[in-house]
Amino acid sequence: MNKNILLIAALALVLALVQISMAGDPDILTDFIVPLNTPPPADGGFFTFTGFRALVTAPFPPTFKVFKAGMEQFPALNGQSVSYAVLMYPSGTVNPVHTHPRSAELLFLVQGSLEVGFVDSTNKLYTQSLQQGDVFVFPKGLVHFQYNADAKNPAVAISAFGSANAGTVSLPNTLFNSTIDDTVLALSFKTDVATIQKLKAGLHG
Ligand SMILES: *[C@@H]1O[C@H](CO)[C@@H](O)[C@H](O)[C@H]1NC(C)=O
Repeated sequence: MNKNILLIAALALVLALVQISMAGDPDILTDFIVPLNTPPPADGGFFTFTGFRALVTAPFPPTFKVFKAGMEQFPALNGQSVSYAVLMYPSGTVNPVHTHPRSAELLFLVQGSLEVGFVDSTNKLYTQSLQQGDVFVFPKGLVHFQYNADAKNPAVAISAFGSANAGTVSLPNTLFNSTIDDTVLALSFKTDVATIQKLKAGLHG
């Protein structure tokens, strides 16, 4: 066998492993990044996100809600590989099955209780009943959910991400609220078009 080919293959493997071990946002060559055509920050204001202040006094939302402090809401996070989300679950509500393509999620349950779970790449489900004060990690890229099964009490969690823009791929929306052809979905799920349309109707509604 050609030695060079083996060498190139080995090099490619090493590079791939280095990529995996450095999984996170790309490193930046400056202390921080300000948006284009913006002067350097005059003070700490640029590094402060006040968007969560309103949550302190706001009434509890009637449906499950996520409030994000990611790069979009908080530009100073660009290049820093971190972000937050505040998650509020009225009693009986779910954060539907979803993945974050660019980060693990470290969830801290500050109020109430939550049933959480994720499925690994061998389809094994890992679940836990979290109580107030618990911290749970959802590994990067894996499908997961949170459910407030408590019939009376709301739940509040704060999630940290190892990316300034973790991204969210909601499975119900990706599959049944996009424009993937009904036939493709029917064949994919080994069912009929009517069943697919029923699932779609629920999300369009
Ligand atoms: C389905 O998609 C529409 C259009 O993008 C959006 O307005 C709606 O909120 C989505 N439905 C759900 C349940 O998220």
